[in-house]
Amino acid sequence: MRKPLISGNWKMHHNHFDAITLVQKLGYAIDKDDVEAVDVSVHPPFTDLRSVQTVIEADKIPLILGAQNCHWEEKGAFTGEVSPAMLAKLNVSYVIVGHSERRELFGETDEDVNRKVKSVLEHGMTPIMCCGETLEERESGATDTKVVGQVKAGLDGLDGATVAGLVVAYEPIWAIGTGRTASAEDAQAVCGLIRRTIADSFGQAAADGVRIQYGGSVKPDNAKELMGQPDIDGALVGGASLEAEPFAGIVQYRLKD
Ligand code: 13P
Repeated sequence: MRKPLISGNWKMHHNHFDAITLVQKLGYAIDKDDVEAVDVSVHPPFTDLRSVQTVIEADKIPLILGAQNCHWEEKGAFTGEVSPAMLAKLNVSYVIVGHSERRELFGETDEDVNRKVKSVLEHGMTPIMCCGETLEERESGATDTKVVGQVKAGLDGLDGATVAGLVVAYEPIWAIGTGRTASAEDAQAVCGLIRRTIADSFGQAAADGVRIQYGGSVKPDNAKELMGQPDIDGALVGGASLEAEPFAGIVQYRLKD
């Protein structure tokens, strides 16, 4: 069975003081039973990582540390960038790669995403590789082509055993931060397509192992239905991960009526 992964992507929110407060609150809200049922990662901004790492480790808070991005090079003259080796040194486990905001606002290409995926893996961390269509693409019937293309390009050159351990996040861009969520059926359809694409390219064992998250206005009220879909193994949560109560509510989706 694939253990679900619920990830909180804080984006450019919370300085390191706010971050410490939030993880401490999450430490009270999330208990042992929760993390037996699901893995939970938090992805603070870079400037918070060391503080969050220290609190998680000192207080034994059962959260997994994640990052939102990195460069693919190990070191060098890349002003403003952060290397995967630096993240690995902070005990970061998951790195979001190719988030739509990186692609749309900062020009990341499929090739960049592929380089980052490989580099994150080489440094012993797990990429959460994002894909998803814009509203125009959805309305013109181009969702499947876009998503399949991003998945194939992002994972290009990997072997099946590696892909089996990865996380892919399907995040329809029109559903991010808008309060609009893909219906559970629509989300399942695309996540199922992603799994079939992985089966075709990397074999059935890779498809059975890879965890596929849905992201886009996931809230405590819709998490259970989304998580109940056969090809949805987790959630990548933005807005609702910025405070302890809604994020814990999503983590505890299994307890909802
Ligand atoms: P929202 O949950 O705010 O829609 O953001 C989704 C997302 O981009 C998570 O990475």
